[in-house]
Amino acid sequence: MDAEHEKRLAAEAAAQLVEDGTTIGLGTGSTVSLFLPLLAARGLELRCVATSLRTEEEARALGLSVEPFTGVEALDRLDLAIDGADQISREGWVIKGNGGAHTREKVVAAAADRFLVIASSDKRVERLRPPIPLELLPYGLAATLRRLDLVSLRDLPPSPDGNVIADYHGDVDDPARLATALSTVPGVVEHGLFPPSLVTEILVGCGDAVERTRPSE
Ligand code: 5RP
Repeated sequence: MDAEHEKRLAAEAAAQLVEDGTTIGLGTGSTVSLFLPLLAARGLELRCVATSLRTEEEARALGLSVEPFTGVEALDRLDLAIDGADQISREGWVIKGNGGAHTREKVVAAAADRFLVIASSDKRVERLRPPIPLELLPYGLAATLRRLDLVSLRDLPPSPDGNVIADYHGDVDDPARLATALSTVPGVVEHGLFPPSLVTEILVGCGDAVERTRPSE
């Protein structure tokens, strides 16, 4: 099945769910890149924040109003956030961060009343598998790495927040336990495991249809 077609279907369905006057967090990745023109075409009055420079530039080029999400003067909550996924489990766990933007993506998802995930059907998996993206503080990096098994650094420039992008390659059999274990290592800024409780709805393009599930219900 054509993943691009399925991503576009999910993106179209998500664009139709956005209402006038919404404060909206825009994710990062190729599915979001398909979503942005569909959103802009609706001509709604929106206030947007972006999870990456790429998304910010694409959104602005389409005429969407993007505002900063840094500092105490910025929006402190959002109505909605929409983003892609790398893997989606049956239980609604989502792995994100193949593009290295998972920290900002998780902050935006958590700030939103509703977080929608849009994806093609190949992102649904029977079992979650590595890698799990990580963002690590440069300060004390060697000491942080000594406390983390099976982690490799990505050959990427620093994140927009000045941090190091890495990947955890161990098993993901118990995502809740792994999420806790990764979060409790000082120096781990964020990991790419998004729990079902964070996800309001998943829209998956499947052939010529869009399947919608609500993991947190
Ligand atoms: C970036 C992400 C992306 O949302 C994820 O990698 C999915 O990307 P795509 O829509 O290109 O398949 O988490 O950090």
